[in-house]
Amino acid sequence: MVSRTIPVDSFDLVVIGGTGDLARRKILPALFKRFCSGQVAGESRLIGAARRAFDTDGYRAFVRDALREFAGEIALDEDAVAKFCATVDYVAIDARGDNGWQDLADLMEAGAAPDAVRAFYFSVGPGLFSEIAQKLQRFGLTNEASRVVVEKPFGRDLDSARALNAQLAQYFDESQIYRIDHYLGKETVQNLMAVRFGNMLFEPLWNAQYIDHIQITVAESVGVEGRGEFYDRAGTMRDMVQNHLMQLLCLIAMEPPAHFDPDAVRDEKLKVIRALDGVQPHHIVRGQYTASDGALSYREDVGNERSKTESFVALKCHLNNWRWAGTPFYLRTGKRLSHRDSEITVVFKDTPHSIFGPEAGRHRNELTIQLQPNEGITLGVTIKEPGPGGMRLVDVPLDMSFAEALGPSADTPDAYERLIMDVIRGNQTLFMRNDEVEAAWAWTDPIIRGWEARGDVPKPYDAYSAGPDDAMLMMRRDGREWKGLSK
Ligand code: BG6
Repeated sequence: MVSRTIPVDSFDLVVIGGTGDLARRKILPALFKRFCSGQVAGESRLIGAARRAFDTDGYRAFVRDALREFAGEIALDEDAVAKFCATVDYVAIDARGDNGWQDLADLMEAGAAPDAVRAFYFSVGPGLFSEIAQKLQRFGLTNEASRVVVEKPFGRDLDSARALNAQLAQYFDESQIYRIDHYLGKETVQNLMAVRFGNMLFEPLWNAQYIDHIQITVAESVGVEGRGEFYDRAGTMRDMVQNHLMQLLCLIAMEPPAHFDPDAVRDEKLKVIRALDGVQPHHIVRGQYTASDGALSYREDVGNERSKTESFVALKCHLNNWRWAGTPFYLRTGKRLSHRDSEITVVFKDTPHSIFGPEAGRHRNELTIQLQPNEGITLGVTIKEPGPGGMRLVDVPLDMSFAEALGPSADTPDAYERLIMDVIRGNQTLFMRNDEVEAAWAWTDPIIRGWEARGDVPKPYDAYSAGPDDAMLMMRRDGREWKGLSK
């Protein structure tokens, strides 16, 4: 496969919170990889800004360590690492006070390429967004062409999300705000759109008339990974369902946009969220993992013996629109499940009549979009089992593993690589708009409020299992089975 890398304009990317975990694990490695692929123009700079009293050399050493730890083999190329680090600067700033902001302004004035794009990545908690935005404006760091990147959580309910959006809107136009949902940067997630709208094959069948149901599973084997305090306040509904799973649902269910451009795509996604019916309490299962197989329990992990926060959610929902009336969507996600496995399965209906009689059994086409760990798409088709003995039917996969089909050079960039470059390009297609975020909270809020009002206690499930039995039962009651993720 020919790798096509289109260089982006020169930029100054300021990572506010540049010494934090997200910067080390994701932002720095992503930028380094794009640098190595030749996409980053020569005069571009990465400027770390945080409270720690680093000088430039100290921060460069920090960046080098982060790359060694998180950028994989590519960071073994010492020469590339040295060249990348030469583009790195650092300014110590105080997000709550005035210290350092003028130094940042001076640094950005000096040495920037003419017309360089200015992007500010708020890699800090949302409690600081407003103060930072205000400082950027007061110290003359931004203009109409500047961009800001913010990370989830965008609030913890509709009211707080509205407040955050309003705070940002005081300083920036919506066209300057890039809200990252890193699931939208995943290669296979974008492929969903390519498969749906680049082929004639699927779209005519993509509706309630031909599709029995759709399942979305995002299973993780990891636990709360040192984020116990945050997680116990958030829970799976806020951490995963309100954003990542809803975004996947939107891409699967939306109408074809007129163009692949930011507002056309986001308008269609918004319509999906607004068409979602409320979820009935008996159509949702919350779970919390218990100690098993050498793993601690959720309560031990978060240090809260009485926690009622969920680490697992499975739910059934419906879209109230012409295309999907009668086709349920099942969503499932959780931590400490048997393995990491994220996939979307579109289960088509039975043929209207079986000419092979009841003994041929039930066969349905399934389209499986595997998001991780191995990216690929499989279409299950029914064929005749080879050999004599009558018409015995069997389901076989028409398999398309991207790595196999496109060869080993099919390099699958990390979601952050794609998204950061999109910020520089000024392309908001894969970022969430204010109204999308608010609509998603408007759907999620009553579910969470219902749990709180009822004092709901999540169902226990063994760590490294497939989740609570009730999630299985919910499917079985409908005569269906979850795909993937066995005990
Ligand atoms: C994050 C959540 O947004 O996504 C984490 O806060 C979760 O709890 C992570 O582990 C999953 O992302 P990925 O890319 O590893 O599937």
